[in-house]
Amino acid sequence: MKEILGGAGFGLDFDLVTGLCPRKASTKRYLSGVKSIFLHPEQAEERLKKEDPLVYEFYELEMIQDPGDLAFGTSIVHPGRVGGEYFMTKGHFHSVLATAEVYLCLRGKGMMMMESPEGDWDCQELYPGRAVYVPKRLAHRSINVGEEPLVTFFTFRAEAGHDYGTIERQGFRKLVMERGGRPEVVDNPRWKDGGGDGL
Ligand SMILES: [Fe+2]
Repeated sequence: MKEILGGAGFGLDFDLVTGLCPRKASTKRYLSGVKSIFLHPEQAEERLKKEDPLVYEFYELEMIQDPGDLAFGTSIVHPGRVGGEYFMTKGHFHSVLATAEVYLCLRGKGMMMMESPEGDWDCQELYPGRAVYVPKRLAHRSINVGEEPLVTFFTFRAEAGHDYGTIERQGFRKLVMERGGRPEVVDNPRWKDGGGDGL
């Protein structure tokens, strides 16, 4: 080991099956807290009468957030559906909009939905070994279209922050629904161009 003046290197272990870091607590999003992201929240309400499943979890590791630093962690989207729509993350822009991010899929099968503030969109497949580059300015959401946890490793510049509110108000232009047992990208009938009055 060599001493690095002015900083300290460190390592964290992530389980490649669960995606979890045993030494750290993940941030958990249960269906009760994210039901409004789905096209049919009333179907989420039906399910919540019986159970409140964990939809996704991720790490907000407390790292230095100075320019030049990197944040990283894992995200785990659990398998499931609400009204034919796959379990997914809320999705976000970065507060520093001109921030790119890389996601490396470690396990599962998914899709990375991306959208610019102008409404241009892209969707990329996620499968083990596949790295997806999310360009700067694009909101992004990971969607689990498989039957096992979707585990990804992500990294982005540490001072970028998160803007969840814009997506909460306007949604994504495109949704991924299960149709005939397969994922299909469809128009979101509730999408609001430029935010509008919100969902
Ligand atoms: Fe991000």
